[in-house]
Amino acid sequence: MKTIQYELREGIATITFDEAGSPVNTMCEQWQSDLTEVTAQVGKDKDAIRGIVLASAKSTFFAGADLKATMRLQPSDAPRVFREIEQTKKNFRTLETLGKPVVSCLNGTALGGGWEVALIGHYRVAVDDRKIQFGLPELTLGLIPGASGITKMTRLLGLLGAQPYILESKLFHPREALELGLVHELVADAAALRPAALAWIEQHAGSGTPVHHPWDDKNYKMPGGTPSNPKVAGMLAVAPAMLKRKTRGLYPAPEYALAAMVEGAQVDFDTALRIESRYLAKLIVSPVAKNMINTFFFNSNAIKAGQSRPGSSSGAGAIPRWKPQKVGILGAGMMGGAIAYVQAGRGIATVLRDVTTEKAEAGRDYSRKLTQTRVDKGRMSAQEQQALVAQITPTDSVQALQGCDLIIEAVFENRELKARVTQEAEPMLAPGGVFASNTSTLPITGLAKASRDPRKFIGIHFFSPVDKMKLVEIIRGQQTDDETVAHAFDYVQAIGKIPIVVNDSRGFFTSRVFGTFVMEAAAMIGEGIPAAVVEHAGIQAGMPVGPLAVMDATALSLSVHVLDQTRADYRAEGGTYIASPGELLVERMVKEFDRNGRTAGAGFYEYPTEPGAKKYLWPQLKPLFEKPGLQWNMQDLQDRLLYRQAIETARCLSERVLTTVHDANVGSIFGIGFPAWTGGTLQFIYGMGIDAFCARAAQLAQQYGPGFAITAKVADAIRSYQPSY
Ligand SMILES: NC(=O)c1ccc[n+]([C@@H]2O[C@H](COP(=O)([O-])OP(=O)(O)OC[C@H]3O[C@@H](n4cnc5c(N)ncnc54)[C@H](O)[C@@H]3O)[C@@H](O)[C@H]2O)c1
Repeated sequence: MKTIQYELREGIATITFDEAGSPVNTMCEQWQSDLTEVTAQVGKDKDAIRGIVLASAKSTFFAGADLKATMRLQPSDAPRVFREIEQTKKNFRTLETLGKPVVSCLNGTALGGGWEVALIGHYRVAVDDRKIQFGLPELTLGLIPGASGITKMTRLLGLLGAQPYILESKLFHPREALELGLVHELVADAAALRPAALAWIEQHAGSGTPVHHPWDDKNYKMPGGTPSNPKVAGMLAVAPAMLKRKTRGLYPAPEYALAAMVEGAQVDFDTALRIESRYLAKLIVSPVAKNMINTFFFNSNAIKAGQSRPGSSSGAGAIPRWKPQKVGILGAGMMGGAIAYVQAGRGIATVLRDVTTEKAEAGRDYSRKLTQTRVDKGRMSAQEQQALVAQITPTDSVQALQGCDLIIEAVFENRELKARVTQEAEPMLAPGGVFASNTSTLPITGLAKASRDPRKFIGIHFFSPVDKMKLVEIIRGQQTDDETVAHAFDYVQAIGKIPIVVNDSRGFFTSRVFGTFVMEAAAMIGEGIPAAVVEHAGIQAGMPVGPLAVMDATALSLSVHVLDQTRADYRAEGGTYIASPGELLVERMVKEFDRNGRTAGAGFYEYPTEPGAKKYLWPQLKPLFEKPGLQWNMQDLQDRLLYRQAIETARCLSERVLTTVHDANVGSIFGIGFPAWTGGTLQFIYGMGIDAFCARAAQLAQQYGPGFAITAKVADAIRSYQPSY
């Protein structure tokens, strides 16, 4: 066996998971066959066994499914996968129904399939350490806990009680597990696990009734009742509708998980396991699961591991990890105040500078306001609040920035102003310090012209609202050096955000792709399609908010400002910018009809001021733009909104604005709200297959214009970056 060690000594059979050549234990193919072998051996040794100990030789207990293998599965593999899952669960059942006490020694994290392995043990002992995590995160990867996790957790916690841990993938620490009854004993350290296990075995081995799980007891009753209980039935009648509202039918995993919970609760344990296997087998070969595993596991890990960070590997060219001690922020407005809050929360000394002390203090008060909500809810103590706010020094003085390792400017979006604050503040930087701009539209290379050292000048683009949005886009200017990129990357990770790294371009990556999404929607309005239909097309495709609502929120006037700026820039370079139909429509909205967006109280929507009143689509859109009798195809509309963004991403790739697939996928989901079921803008292409994507794009280009055209160069870029597993 290559993944499991087996030892029988003094009546104790010890099964130690220890996958050769891997830092963690996974349910790889080899493990599955090793488990069958060890289970058979246990069967043979039964008479000599007093108890069984499950342990891990790694620093974690067990990591779960072998996701690389999952990525290679094809729909035709489903029957084979079903048989394999059933075999694994048969082994679990053999071990736990042998009549011998089985103890899981949980020395470290056990997630997904790992927690399902832990649940083999009748008695579960864990090290009392908050760094250890248990639980079933499968749904976040488009899968379900189908290796007995659903069936067992539902039988342990009940249909209602298990929901957060199955449907919401809520994880828990050893202490919480103890309170929930999912772990039975905590010990101080890993060395204390085995003695605790042996003591429990001694108490239970050879006792009158063979040791068994609660559900194998003939008097077992499901906590909270089965679906036939009127209270549970009432909840179950509405649960699918509530779920559908969340998933919009785009995410099969939560629906399958709920179905497996409820169907499984009405049948015997072994039938419930089989139901679960069928759902898992169907799901694991599906495109949505692969898309989500690709991005939420592999791509996210690539970012966490610093694959886009220069100098991450050891050896020549390595750039050591960096943590700035003191960071200055210029401009205490909406963005500056919020950036101050986020970094102060991570213990970074923050100098917040604005033109007056009052403005700077108002920026700091934003942190007080945000933390007050947490204090009121009992999630933060008054001292913690005070400590966080005290990290921020509001000031109107440039001198106060003296010694900052990093200064980020977040002043108005104006080139001259940005140049001036850069030149004022740069001399205050500590030796080797970095100057960053939070501009959302102005190319970094141009802004760097004002800098005394463009190698140390970079874009760090936050998203609003900063405290909620996880992504930060790092923009490398033409002259930005590797060390500066690495330092910006480390800063973003140090404040708990997800960094993506892109090269300079108009709109960088996220704003550029986001722009194509909203402008495609505006173009539809111009074609005469009803606004409500356009909004629904966005929502049904899986975007979090309709494109018109989102355009209102970011301000139509801003889009027009960017358009005017782009025209001016093209003119300055001796060219002419040809505005898209969407851009022209938005320009009319602003210049002709004075519809500037949400803050102006008038955009594609009306914003009534009476308390509690909801926004509604501007009634004039109908007479102004709708074409009576016009036919439209909902699939076309949805495709236009998604394909347009994917194509623009591919263009970014071919222009080397993007240089990795993981930055594109993760950036599009967390920065733009591209639907998670697709795995991001590039996985949308790879998931459906490049040929199918290009064929559909060609159709769209013919009907809806050059925004959908894929040149040979772009097609080549798509092909050359295709990931393999
Ligand atoms: N609002 C967004 O959603 C968003 C998102 C990403 C990036 N950005 C970018 O962030 C920057 C700031 O945007 P905002 O929305 O926070 O603007 P804002 O108008 O809320 O704040 C700008 C602040 O800068 C201050 N300021 C002006 N001159 C200054 C100077 N010389 N020194 C110090 N402070 C000065 C102003 O007093 C004001 O408080 C812009 O470049 C914008 O493009 C904005």
